[in-house]
Amino acid sequence: MDVVDAIQGRRSIRAFQSKEVPQEIVEKLIDMAGWAPSAGNIQPWEFIIVRKSEIKRRLVEAALGQTFIEEAPVVIVVCANQSRSYQGYGVRGETLYCIQDTAAAIQNILLTAYALGLGACWVGAFREEEAREILKIPQGIRPVAIIPIGYPAEAPQPPSRRTVNQIVHYETF
Ligand SMILES: Cc1cc2nc3c(=O)[nH]c(=O)nc-3n(C[C@H](O)[C@H](O)[C@H](O)COP(=O)(O)O)c2cc1C
Repeated sequence: MDVVDAIQGRRSIRAFQSKEVPQEIVEKLIDMAGWAPSAGNIQPWEFIIVRKSEIKRRLVEAALGQTFIEEAPVVIVVCANQSRSYQGYGVRGETLYCIQDTAAAIQNILLTAYALGLGACWVGAFREEEAREILKIPQGIRPVAIIPIGYPAEAPQPPSRRTVNQIVHYETF
């Protein structure tokens, strides 16, 4: 698939078929995530694969009742390894680079999922400490996104975008 088509055609999917997502496909998504750029090539990302209903149910609660998380056959929780980035770049690495790097990895997952016929949604609204407890995430690692993934059961219209004129600045802001 052409990258421009992938960027434009990808949508946030919040309804899934019950059909399982094979493990090889999940591994492909993680592999592609790892090809994202990262500051100093530190690759400060960690991925938790969740398939168990009980854990997904608790994630729904942490994510303020977003029930479609539980409907997805597989959920990838993307975490930023702040300690790893701190070692390379101090406070800027810990607070900024690792989040930027992880965001790029998340976008790779979303685009790859779309290219493979899957649907996914970047869920950022969740109570972080609750997610940390459910998933046993150690200190120094920050959960950044919950991504429910499955075969889509909806085909949403693209939400509008700000135009180029509205967002571009030339020479100075
Ligand atoms: C940082 C971030 C957090 C988001 N959090 C949520 C969320 O908690 N729940 C949700 O349904 N969608 C969430 N989204 C998805 C956005 O709502 C969606 O990307 C936006 O409406 C544009 O739609 P599109 O992805 O189909 O182009 C989030 C997206 C980003 C980038």
